[in-house]
Amino acid sequence: MQIKNVSGILMGIGLVMIILQFMQPVMAAAPNLPNNSCADCHRKLLFSSEAQRQFIDIRIKHLENGITCSIVCHEDKLNKSTASTYALWSISTHALFEVTCDKCHGGNMSATSKDDAHIGLSGFNISRANTPEMCGKCHESELMEFKNSQHFKNLESGEVPAPACITCHQAHSVRVLTSSEIEDFCSNCHNNITGINPLVPKKAEIALSSVKELDIEIAQARSNIISEQTKGKDVSSAQANLESARTILKNVPSVWHRFNLTYFDTEVQKGIVDAKNAQNIKTEATATVTPKSPGFVGLLFISGLIAAYLLRRSA
Ligand code: HEC
Ligand code: HEC
Ligand code: HEC
Ligand code: HEC
Ligand code: HEC
Repeated sequence: MQIKNVSGILMGIGLVMIILQFMQPVMAAAPNLPNNSCADCHRKLLFSSEAQRQFIDIRIKHLENGITCSIVCHEDKLNKSTASTYALWSISTHALFEVTCDKCHGGNMSATSKDDAHIGLSGFNISRANTPEMCGKCHESELMEFKNSQHFKNLESGEVPAPACITCHQAHSVRVLTSSEIEDFCSNCHNNITGINPLVPKKAEIALSSVKELDIEIAQARSNIISEQTKGKDVSSAQANLESARTILKNVPSVWHRFNLTYFDTEVQKGIVDAKNAQNIKTEATATVTPKSPGFVGLLFISGLIAAYLLRRSA
């Protein structure tokens, strides 16, 4: 049974490798990069690395010893060692937007030999602590906010382990952690053992989830406004509130990088209030046409009736 499992999994790995080999030209074609020798050559380095072979060896040993460690539990390690930098980059948002290798590494993209292409390569001294400046060339607002964070201060001083851009996004896949992944990820550093604010992971998850609520409230406000507009109602004040909520939503990704969760949450809650106010055109507009509540005269009439009834009973 055990052996069968192992060979099944090995066959699976083999199959994936074969499929990926066939997919390479397709993946290369997708971003359509002219004269890009970096991509042309680095694409072929896929699955040739020593690290990848080592990883598969470890995995076989795990399986033989009945350690059923899931792929998920080693996903990051697997990504780093089995896929080349090209493979990770080729399916990233950066590839889609033509953020090519040379944008970060320098080098000569039209040279075809390795030595010529690597002339002027700055990649040899990219350090983690440099990445905010490097990434910030294009992500200015994220960098601006990040510079206000405790993370950045600690990264600069180098005393305590602090995350750089690539700690959370990785250099080549530039993926974005979702709110459900946040708690697990942040607790790598924020936990009781390190003593680095262990309340952060839970708080961060809640803060990011509330962005979804903001999204939903904005969508609701938008649809209310459209439907009231078609009825010819004045929606200008609602539209101003909606605009304000949208601006807050737009700034969420940059504001996030200040890593001040109280400030972040206050901003998002402000947006939710704005969006809810924008939804209220319905009640505002209809309030003028609905009949008024009984009012003073009505109440006087009703209490009169009750008094008459009570008098009759006591008589
Ligand atoms: C003809 C093939 C070829 C071309 C063209 C090429 N490279 Fe490389 N590159 C390699 C090989 C082989 C290695 C070493 C193996 C490895 O690290 O995977 C390497 C390594 C690197 C490294 C890692 C250096 C380190 O310290 O680990 C970077 C960064 C890099 N290349 C970037 C580029 C960029 C940017 C371009 C285009 C301007 C480029 N390469 C063009 C073959 C090439
Ligand atoms: C957005 C910037 C960016 C782009 C685009 C980029 N890289 Fe990198 N690359 C980095 C950073 C940052 C590191 C250092 C990673 C680290 O220290 O963990 C790195 C490291 C590397 C390494 C060293 C091995 C490693 O994983 O540490 C190689 C090889 C490499 N890049 C090749 C490439 C190739 C080939 C491309 C294009 C297909 C590319 N890079 C595109 C930022 C980038
Ligand atoms: C040459 C410009 C450039 C550089 C340098 C650059 N980026 Fe980007 N990045 C872009 C563009 C363009 C996009 C896609 C449009 C957008 O989201 O703004 C993008 C998107 C992203 C995204 C969003 C991905 C998604 O799927 O939504 C992340 C995260 C990211 N970059 C992180 C980084 C990190 C980390 C670095 C440094 C290692 C970096 N970027 C360096 C231009 C750049
Ligand atoms: C401690 C982890 C962490 C660090 C450090 C970090 N980010 Fe982020 N980043 C995130 C998370 C989580 C999100 C998603 C926020 C959200 O959902 O609004 C994000 C979002 C982004 C986005 C926007 C993606 C989108 O959907 O529009 C960009 C671009 C980005 N980061 C770039 C950077 C850059 C550049 C740096 C370094 C200056 C950096 N990040 C540092 C965790 C981090
Ligand atoms: C590599 C380690 C590391 C990772 C990963 C990390 N942090 Fe931090 N974080 C730190 C350090 C160190 C501090 C500074 C603590 C201090 O000096 O008090 C800090 C401080 C903070 C603070 C300020 C704490 C306070 O008390 O006000 C916030 C907020 C924060 N981190 C959020 C996050 C979030 C959210 C994540 C995950 C997306 C994350 N961090 C991931 C190391 C890390």
